[in-house]
Amino acid sequence: MNRHNNDVSLELCLEHIIDSHNPIFDAFYKLYEDTFDPNVIEPKERYKMWISSTKNGKHPFPYVLVVGHSSSLPDKIISFTSGNYMPLLDENFKPTQRAIGAIGHTATLEELRRKGYGSRVLSYFETTAKKLTEERNKEFIGLVCEAENRSVGFWHKSGFKELEDVIYFQPPLIFDPNTGERQYDEVQENLVIKSYNAKKTLPKSLVRNIVRTMYEYWCVPKPDGYFGSGINGDLNNPVAYENARSYIHEVVFKKFENSLSKIPGGHIKLKSKI
Ligand SMILES: CC(C)(COP(=O)(O)OP(=O)(O)OC[C@H]1O[C@@H](n2cnc3c(N)ncnc32)[C@H](O)[C@@H]1OP(=O)(O)O)[C@@H](O)C(=O)NCCC(=O)NCCS
Repeated sequence: MNRHNNDVSLELCLEHIIDSHNPIFDAFYKLYEDTFDPNVIEPKERYKMWISSTKNGKHPFPYVLVVGHSSSLPDKIISFTSGNYMPLLDENFKPTQRAIGAIGHTATLEELRRKGYGSRVLSYFETTAKKLTEERNKEFIGLVCEAENRSVGFWHKSGFKELEDVIYFQPPLIFDPNTGERQYDEVQENLVIKSYNAKKTLPKSLVRNIVRTMYEYWCVPKPDGYFGSGINGDLNNPVAYENARSYIHEVVFKKFENSLSKIPGGHIKLKSKI
């Protein structure tokens, strides 16, 4: 018997938020703010811009926010998953025919965790990212996430796998707007992937392109400070921008690549258990 069906007591309404005027958007932001470290919280205005630029087709890697809510809990949401649809980039940063869903954040109200809500909302995120891929005539190859230690078990239960012997770093996200100097160092995180094409191993070349894609879209501050997750990323200065970009793609990416080069052969084993 499915334990989740036993445990879930609230009727869950799943919704893809495509308008920040939707009152559910404020409830999402409250849960996001209450769950994550205030040092890494993005301003509400930036989320609103992501939603509106996705809606008007201007976001190069569309923002996807899905939530689960219930009429029994007005003014709140139960769970959300937030992230982006990303066309996969090749070695030359050119978009390919493939795409991934990159998950930025997911959270469930503390008092309602371990009841199956998080996995239902995550699954709706997956469906939504797949739909965006189909609409663009691309091939959906799976989901990726930088998992926090406290949630690695959740990702394993949700079909994600860690990569054996791969050392992954989240690049710094804040750079000095005048010099491009990073404001803190990269942080080691757990890269987890739910692959549609492979169960046991992934080609190194594919893993390189996945990480390159996440770094380029998520971490490189964009000159208008808008799309990147650079928290004070208004990098209008081209020298500062180049310095920041090369730190991400050369220094941090090289550290990750070094771990790949120590793995014999052209493939990386996927680990299904912690
Ligand atoms: C991670 C999180 C979103 C999971 O949401 P949830 O609603 O509790 O998840 P579910 O109830 O759908 O869990 C699905 C499965 O994963 C398991 N699971 C959930 N959280 C887990 C955790 N932290 N560690 C290990 N297993 C976990 C559940 O027991 C369940 O397993 P089962 O199918 O055998 O019963 C929630 O714990 C949370 O908000 N954590 C704080 C924020 C966070 O860490 N987010 C992830 C980083 S972005």
